[in-house]
Amino acid sequence: MDNKVTSFKVLKTPLENVKDNALLIGFFEGQTGLNADLKKLDKEFNGIISSYIKENRFRAEKGEAKSIFTNKGIKNVVLVGLGEEEKYNFEILSSVMADAAKKLRNGETETFSICLSSFSGHSKEEDAVEKIVLSCLMGLYKFTEYKTKDKDKIKNVKEITLITNSNKNFSSEINYAYAVSYAVNKTRDFVNTPPNIATPGHIAEYVKDVSKKSNLKCTIFDDKQIEKMKMGCFFAVGKGSVNKPRLIVLEYFGAGKSQKPIALVGKGVTFDSGGLNLKPYPYILNMKDDKGGAIASIHVIEACAKLKLPVNLVVITPFCENMIDADSYRPDDVLTAYNGMTVEIKNTDAEGRLVLADALTYACEMKPQAIIDIATLTGASMITLGNVATPYLATDGKLSEKIKSASIKSLEKVWEMPLWPEFEDSIKSDVADIKNISEEGDAGVIIGATFLKNFVDETPWAHIDIGTTVWSKADKGILTKGATGATVRLLMEMLREWK
Ligand code: BES
Ligand code: ZN
Ligand code: ZN
Repeated sequence: MDNKVTSFKVLKTPLENVKDNALLIGFFEGQTGLNADLKKLDKEFNGIISSYIKENRFRAEKGEAKSIFTNKGIKNVVLVGLGEEEKYNFEILSSVMADAAKKLRNGETETFSICLSSFSGHSKEEDAVEKIVLSCLMGLYKFTEYKTKDKDKIKNVKEITLITNSNKNFSSEINYAYAVSYAVNKTRDFVNTPPNIATPGHIAEYVKDVSKKSNLKCTIFDDKQIEKMKMGCFFAVGKGSVNKPRLIVLEYFGAGKSQKPIALVGKGVTFDSGGLNLKPYPYILNMKDDKGGAIASIHVIEACAKLKLPVNLVVITPFCENMIDADSYRPDDVLTAYNGMTVEIKNTDAEGRLVLADALTYACEMKPQAIIDIATLTGASMITLGNVATPYLATDGKLSEKIKSASIKSLEKVWEMPLWPEFEDSIKSDVADIKNISEEGDAGVIIGATFLKNFVDETPWAHIDIGTTVWSKADKGILTKGATGATVRLLMEMLREWK
C-alpha cells in the first residue's frame, strides 16, 4: 500500500463554484433533463453538458466515462454512466466509482471532486458516501513495495472532495470506510508480500507492533510451546520448514467483560508447497496467498479496535510454512490433534485443515459465543462458485443469517453450502479416527468443512473458504490484480451489527 493515502473532504457548495482538476457527475441511461444544480453548471459551460446528452455523444451506459475538458474552474467534467436507473445499486456505484478513480489517477489527476447527489440514486447520501470512499480507496490500491525503478513515477490521488447540498459532514461514514479500506489494503499488502519475507516470525513481529498501537492483548506461542501444548496437527505441518511456526492470539474487549467473545480463526500458511505431495507447476505459484484468512482476521480486529465497536473479539491465527525436509510430515503418518483425536495423513497438501483443527480446539477453550474460521482451504472452491462468490458452511442458522445479511450490506458475495452427515463417511480412516482427505476427491469444499467440524464443540461455528476469492486476476472496479482482502468487509459489517 502506498503510504500516501488519498484523503477525503466534504464541501457544501453549488457545482458551478467548484474549482478542481476534475468533477465526476453520474447519469442514468435515458436521463434527458438536467436538474436545477446541473442546469446552472451547464450554463456556466455554455450548454456543453446538455449537448453531449442531446446529441447522443454520451449515453450513460454502465461504466461509460466521457471527459469534457474546459478552461473554467473545473478542468475536466467527467460524465459517468450508471446504466439503467431501475437496476442501479451500490454494487454498480462501487465498480463505476473505482474505475473512474483509477482512470483519473492513471491520467495523473491528483485531486478531483464528486457530485454526491448524482451517485446516491434512491439511497441515503450517507450510505452512498461510505461506498464511494471505500470503492475509491480500494480501487486506487497499488502494491509497489518491491519495485525499485521509477518509483517517483508512481501516480497517486491526493485528495477527493465530495460535493453536497446537505449540511452533514458524513464523518462517521468516512471514518468507517477509512478503517475498513485500511484493513482491506493492509491485508492485500501482506498477502502480496513474498513468502521469503512474510514468514511466521516476521508476521509475529508485525502483529506485536499492531497490538501495542491498538491496545490489543497479544499472546504469541513459538514452535516449542506449540509442541509442548500437544498441538500435534499444527506442529506437524510446520515441522518441515526452517521458518518456525507461531500461534498468534489477539484479544479486543469492546463490550463488558461478561459478554462472551466472538472468535475468528484464520489459516496462516505463509507458503504452501504441498509438502511431500508437492504441488506441480503452475499450481505451486501464488501459494503465498495461503495466509489470506489469518491476515484478514488480524486486520479486522485492528479495525474493530480503531472504530471502538461494542464487541469482544478474539483472533486465533496459526502461522506456519508447508515445506519439504527430512523432518517433514508424510502421507500415512498418524497425528494426534490438540483435542486428542487421531488423524491419518493421506495427502500433505491438505494441510490447512490440520493447522485449523488445533486452532479451532484452542478457540473452543476460550468459550466464545461463536467461531468463524476463514481459510484458503481448497482449490475446489473454484469449481463451486468460481471467483464470483465465497462458499461458507455453518452449524447454526442464526450465525448463517448474520453472514448472509453482512454479505448483502458489504457487497462481498457468499453462498452457503450444506454440512450434511452423508459426507462424513468419506473421511473415516482404517487406522485412525479420521483421515485428512476423501480419496474420492468429490465435494472438496464440503469435505474440508466436514473434517474441521470434528474440532469444534457445540459452539455455533461457520467456515468460510476463500481459496479462490483471496486473489484476483482482474484489475476491474474495486479489484486490483493480486490479493483482494477477501472477508474483511464482510466480517466488519457482521461485527458492526452484532447483537
Ligand atoms: N492452499 C490450498 C488450497 C488452494 C489451492 C488455495 C489453490 C488457493 C488456490 C490447500 O492447502 C490445498 O492444497 N488443498 C488441496 C486439498 C486436497 C489435497 C484435498 C486442494 O484444494 O487441492
Ligand atoms: Zn495445501
Ligand atoms: Zn494450503
